[in-house]
Amino acid sequence: MSKANMLVAAVIAASAFLAADAQAEQTSISKQALDVTGPATTLQTLAEAKPVTAPHAMVVTAQHLATQVGVNILKQGGNAVDAAVAVGYALAVVHPCCGNIGGGGFMVIHLASGKNLFLDFREKAPLKATPTMFQDAQGNVVPGLSTKSFLAVGVPGTVMGLNAALKKYGTMTLQQVMAPAIALAKDGYVLQQGDIKILDTRNKDFAEHPNVAAIFLDHGQPYKVGDKLVQPQLARTLELIAKDGSKVFYKGPIARAVVAASEQNGGLLTMKDFADYSVAWSKPVSCEYRGYEVISSPPPSSGGTTVCEILQIIKPYPFAKWGYGSVEATHYLAEAERFAFADRNTYLGDPAFVKNPIAQLLSPQHAAWIRARIKPDAATPSSKVKGSLGGTEGQHTTHYSVVDAKGNAVSVTYTINFLFGVGQIAGDTGFFLNDEMDDFTSKPGVPNAFGLVQGRIDEVRPGKRPLSSMTPTVVLRKGKLFMVTGSPGGSTIISTTMESIINVVDFGMNMQQAVDAPRMHQQWLPDLVMVEPGYLTPATQAALEKMGYTFKMVHAWGADEAILRNSKTHLLEGANDDRRTSGLAAGY
Ligand code: DON
Repeated sequence: MSKANMLVAAVIAASAFLAADAQAEQTSISKQALDVTGPATTLQTLAEAKPVTAPHAMVVTAQHLATQVGVNILKQGGNAVDAAVAVGYALAVVHPCCGNIGGGGFMVIHLASGKNLFLDFREKAPLKATPTMFQDAQGNVVPGLSTKSFLAVGVPGTVMGLNAALKKYGTMTLQQVMAPAIALAKDGYVLQQGDIKILDTRNKDFAEHPNVAAIFLDHGQPYKVGDKLVQPQLARTLELIAKDGSKVFYKGPIARAVVAASEQNGGLLTMKDFADYSVAWSKPVSCEYRGYEVISSPPPSSGGTTVCEILQIIKPYPFAKWGYGSVEATHYLAEAERFAFADRNTYLGDPAFVKNPIAQLLSPQHAAWIRARIKPDAATPSSKVKGSLGGTEGQHTTHYSVVDAKGNAVSVTYTINFLFGVGQIAGDTGFFLNDEMDDFTSKPGVPNAFGLVQGRIDEVRPGKRPLSSMTPTVVLRKGKLFMVTGSPGGSTIISTTMESIINVVDFGMNMQQAVDAPRMHQQWLPDLVMVEPGYLTPATQAALEKMGYTFKMVHAWGADEAILRNSKTHLLEGANDDRRTSGLAAGY
């Protein structure tokens, strides 16, 4: 199907599905877990969707002020790493749901010299953590323990991660890159509709804790558009970090405040947990797809491995001919995702604790073994699919992207898990703590907040990092930068990131269309395909249902903040996902 036809078909489908969405059932992914803050996808305008273009450099983040911070750093002569660190701290102020210093994440760096790096600053489990800590005496998982109690909090990694990146590859001082974030916290910033929408998701929770209400409610009432959010406590915390670096966070007053709050509230965190925390540099996971090189996140993220496994499975199929949203493309994508997620949940975990069979999972033999099991005309019941290396013989959150004028690129996804994490702030530190422990397996076979049914491989262990789906990614062509992409959305991060790549490479979309286009997602269990309004036409839905598929309509997920180097115009294309109205792409 031509691109024009495909977009027309999608537009026709949109109205039917927007209506159907009104009766959408509850998704099996918990609502709080999934980042459902965006508007309906604007399919009606997808055909006209155009990215922001710039010749030299580009920054795309989920909050417009953070984007401006990044662009200013680049204009002052900073490189992509300087800008990425400045943006990381700025988002902690202006995007407090997701940008953070109380959580952790991953950074993929592509240097213009050709070098590719991965920085892991994922949270670690406290040393007193145990595999059964989220179960009662009968072995049943206690609801809320891994998401709403202080047991949910992992040792945060963001501060050490950002500072380590700056030290190794930045050119500016910590004071220089943190100054804009400190000013935004101290002087405040005006809340726009996009910001209010996100705050509104947890206003009720803010009221439960006086130190949270004092910052995130206006005299007990929700903030409104046009109000100013001033965060003096956070400004003070950031000033301490700017002055003394990571040690103030891991060995000084900030660690002490978090440990005290944890002790008062039944948590396990100790000063030793903070003192022992470390970040890790390693090689990204990579794979070839139709002449492009995908550079992405290895364990403890499952993201890069799973995206690459899906791409290896679908490589021989004629996706460009089939077209976006076609019966064939949807079927083979859903099947590839089903098998790859089964492998993800069975084989992947923190590399400091488990051996990840990445080479096997990404081998041509394994992809062929899976393809041989996919029927052309029927969905495979997930009950018949097990994570298997057989046949290989031989395997809330926010994302931002930065490209500088020299061609260095930085792709960052970091998180406190749910929107506003565990919903609690330690004393007067001013920042939300994560509930990342929920990404572990609370009990083998019992789904986590993202519906992921994981195994022992991801069980809680002292000092272990929970398996993540975050997928900050850089795509190269002939060794040169082509795309920077990634997204929030828990388990859906993997399909969202993968779809942004195939929407460009296979379906010929520009960067804005590729991130705005309605999405689909299959994750092995539960055995259903999530679709956004407008992804399917009534005819393709009927054909796929006949093949055995069950669909769940979910209203807008993810926020892919992406950049593309257009190979014809040579311009950078920046795209803020239209589901995240607070965001912005800007360059020069
Ligand atoms: O690391 C992970 O996979 C999750 N903690 C990410 C959470 C997330 O994306 C929440 N946003 N919707």
